[in-house]
Amino acid sequence: MAQILDGKAYADRMLDEVKAAVAARKNSGLRAPCLAVVLVGDDPASQVYVKGKIAACAKTGIESIEHRPAADVTQSELNLLIEGLNADPDVDGILVQLPLPKHLDSKAALHRINPAKDVDGFHPLNQGRLFEGLPGLRPCTPSACMRMLKFHGVEMAGKRAVVLGRSEIVGKPMALMLLEENATVTIAHSRTADLPAVCREADILVAAVGRPGLVEGSWIKPGAVVVDVGINRVTDLAFGERIFAADPVKLAKLREKGHVLCGDVRFGEAMQVAGAVTPVPGGVGPLTIAGLLRNTLKACEALVCPG
Ligand code: GUN
Repeated sequence: MAQILDGKAYADRMLDEVKAAVAARKNSGLRAPCLAVVLVGDDPASQVYVKGKIAACAKTGIESIEHRPAADVTQSELNLLIEGLNADPDVDGILVQLPLPKHLDSKAALHRINPAKDVDGFHPLNQGRLFEGLPGLRPCTPSACMRMLKFHGVEMAGKRAVVLGRSEIVGKPMALMLLEENATVTIAHSRTADLPAVCREADILVAAVGRPGLVEGSWIKPGAVVVDVGINRVTDLAFGERIFAADPVKLAKLREKGHVLCGDVRFGEAMQVAGAVTPVPGGVGPLTIAGLLRNTLKACEALVCPG
């Protein structure tokens, strides 16, 4: 059986480190770091994510401010809000929760954020710094995943890494970070020919496509390290019976509650082939939040070059 890579446990370690650093700041008379979260509209999933981020801030002593513009906010109103947060000396980090309503231009909003406060690491300047291998604010999910892999002693140099998914939030930055650690990296996606064969080459397989149970056990190289970034809600019982055939716990939960969370990887099948696997939930999800708080502290301590 594969080792379960407990993301929650590692995220708790990261949160403890942030908490200690925040306490040390306060003890020396400095103010706590402050994160401003902008949540436009009332998308239920975004509300859950933002609630988790704000609760984690409170746990570590980081202050948070929530801005909740209505779903019909205009681009110029949103821009003004961001400009105000850029100019506020008491705000260290700014996070605009995605997705934004369709009438808004997400990139235009993200590009407005002062790169020194861009705790998501989505601003082109921070993306460019990552591209060049320079320190800076880096996207939370891949950077926390990398920290956890290193903590568990996962060898990356010279290994074949396959990143399934090419998003700017996870896939592309994860590929760059693996490359920085001297892995041989392939980015695979929905148009990749013979996806199972490409995945089977991976010593490290990162799945970040948002397709429940896409990666089957037969796609995984024996002994591979599998990082499952997907967080999907499954409600269809017939579909669940197919993807959870080797995962009686998930199937029972689906039958009992009518819904269950799962990753992009068939966890039960992966456990029989891989060397190590992150579970869903309790794997990458908590790491994302820990990465965000770490970035907020970093932004506050101005450990990053503002460009
Ligand atoms: N929506 C889904 N993931 C993310 C994230 O990492 N940051 C932001 N701002 N929005 C998201």
